[in-house]
Amino acid sequence: MRIFLSLAAVSFTVALIAFTMSSSASGDPEAGAEIAAPCAACHGSDGIASVDKYPSLAGQNEGYLYESMKAYREGNRQGGLATVMHGQVSNLSDQQLRDLAAYYADMPRTGKED
Ligand code: HEC
Repeated sequence: MRIFLSLAAVSFTVALIAFTMSSSASGDPEAGAEIAAPCAACHGSDGIASVDKYPSLAGQNEGYLYESMKAYREGNRQGGLATVMHGQVSNLSDQQLRDLAAYYADMPRTGKED
């Protein structure tokens, strides 16, 4: 009985970890759209930047977008134009970054190879 109980506890913990990991990876693209107006000035309303020195975000991997914004916010991405982005995301929560990442990841890539 004891062994059964601890096995149950272990599998519950594993399930909980798996749930936490999967839920932390996804945001709500509609919520992201509501706070993306300032971003469009540089990254384009379609996620394609019109300025050569700015990155396009449309169709980029959601996890990558989220991690990069977090790195700007925490000052872990520096050099180049990173200070510009630090200012853009410094007041945003983890959830808002997830939502923005989902919003841009959902956009179609409209690069030249299409
Ligand atoms: C004033 C122009 C400007 C605004 C406004 C702006 N960005 Fe940026 N963004 C940049 C620049 C420039 C970079 C590249 C910085 C560097 O050199 O690391 C960048 C980089 C990024 C990256 C990393 C892209 C990659 O491929 O690594 C993401 C994600 C991003 N911005 C999202 C956003 C979001 C979301 C907003 C709105 C909250 C926003 N940006 C607002 C100029 C801007």
